[in-house]
Amino acid sequence: MALDLPIVNPAVPAGADVKPQDHLPGNGLGTGKKAHIVTLGCQMNELDTQTMFGLLARMGYSRTDDPAEADVILYNTCSVRENPERKVYGQVGLLKKLKEAKPHLIIGICGCMPQSRVERQKLWERLPHVDLIFGTMNLHRLPELLMQVQETGQRVMEVWDEEGDIVEGLPVVREDRLKAYVTIIYGCDYRCSFCIVPQTRGRQRSRRAGYIINEVEQLAAEGYKEVTLLGQTVDAYGKDLGDGTTLASLLWRLNEIPGLERIRFTTSHPRDITDDLIIAMRDAGKVCEHLHLPVQSGNNRILKLMGRRYTREEYLALIDKLRSNIPGLTITTDIIVGFPGETDEEFEDTVRLVKEVQFDGAFTFIYSPRPGTGAPRLPNPVPEEVQRTRIHRLIEIQNEITAARNRALVGTVQEVLVEGKSEKDPARLTGRTRGNKIVVFHGDEALVGRVVPVRITEARTWTLVGDVEVAAAARTA
Ligand code: SAH
Ligand code: F3S
Repeated sequence: MALDLPIVNPAVPAGADVKPQDHLPGNGLGTGKKAHIVTLGCQMNELDTQTMFGLLARMGYSRTDDPAEADVILYNTCSVRENPERKVYGQVGLLKKLKEAKPHLIIGICGCMPQSRVERQKLWERLPHVDLIFGTMNLHRLPELLMQVQETGQRVMEVWDEEGDIVEGLPVVREDRLKAYVTIIYGCDYRCSFCIVPQTRGRQRSRRAGYIINEVEQLAAEGYKEVTLLGQTVDAYGKDLGDGTTLASLLWRLNEIPGLERIRFTTSHPRDITDDLIIAMRDAGKVCEHLHLPVQSGNNRILKLMGRRYTREEYLALIDKLRSNIPGLTITTDIIVGFPGETDEEFEDTVRLVKEVQFDGAFTFIYSPRPGTGAPRLPNPVPEEVQRTRIHRLIEIQNEITAARNRALVGTVQEVLVEGKSEKDPARLTGRTRGNKIVVFHGDEALVGRVVPVRITEARTWTLVGDVEVAAAARTA
């Protein structure tokens, strides 16, 4: 059957009517059946999973969280580090029993792992009970591929090694009613020597602003209050469009959308933070003052070997500029410890940088060699025990800093988008500040979906505790 999707990425003027397609292949094939998807990895994968649920729903599938009652089980995989890859072999291996008991069960593996030729071959051979393998770049082909498996009874592997045109208008089944992810740029044109993402996600491709604006307008009309714009290097948005569109110009246009309260974006590369973007973060009222800005290392020799294209001094100068221009900015980061050849002294440079910057939070990772990247060829790999000692030390230091940054907010009033009851403490509500910190507080459930002022009374390492400013909340009602 021919693929009947509006591929392409033509110039669509803002406000143009882009209709999602409702004539996908495989319609009705899933009626009465259930699908279960396991998602590993980043927000991009989470959104891909929501899109796959959208495609599956069009086919008639409903969603189940219980693999035992599923007719289709998909593993949306992550290749950034070795651990999540191992997990796939382990967990999918265990599904063999389920498949034996239920021969019509279709098991599929998708996402980043199959994008590697070597890995997909390995998956194919080592997991013979897997029926379907596809990649990140042909995710929209899921209905067609499922249909092939069902009709032929054969195993199917289809992975695109070249990024095709951006497919617009795919259906998405979102988990949240208030907050939505919207990808604005696919792939990455940097080549950090440790990172597999450029291989798994391909070259940088920005969506046309018109499509994004349409999608966000639609979300706001449906009652969504917050969007997070996604990209591996989200601040490089527009560079490849050649029409002058930038993340800053997009933010200003999204800032106009009625009903939408908040705009976030992640992940930013330090090299692509422009003055225009800083101004948009400062002045566009809906753009939240939070930046996730991976530094990876605080040592110049390591940064160079990593191919990060900035020095420690440039990174620190950027932080200064950001902080002095954007009041209340929170900054989080990613750090890799134990990169090949990293000496104790070089690691100490990272510790010093962490202490100097005072990040609000940091994701820390032990370096994991990735096939097809440059870093594994570097001499003097750091022994695992040393990597572990370093990461523990770094985590301890950062936790103290995170706690101190949170304590500094005690007594302040923060705007909080109320998300619902706190899972850990159902007597309280929970939400996030503009700076992306979680706050729990007492309040009526009727506040869910509203932005309310909350006075912070207590800081814990990961969450803030507060009270709604009743008078102010009444004024804003
Ligand atoms: N720009 C991307 C980066 C994806 S990977 C983004 O959207 O976040 C996320 C983080 O994983 C990186 O910032 C890096 O700190 C870490 N990472 C990537 N490759 C790694 C590797 N080989 N070993 C350990 N950590 C890695
Ligand atoms: Fe990876 Fe570096 Fe791009 S971390 S996603 S290659 S900016």
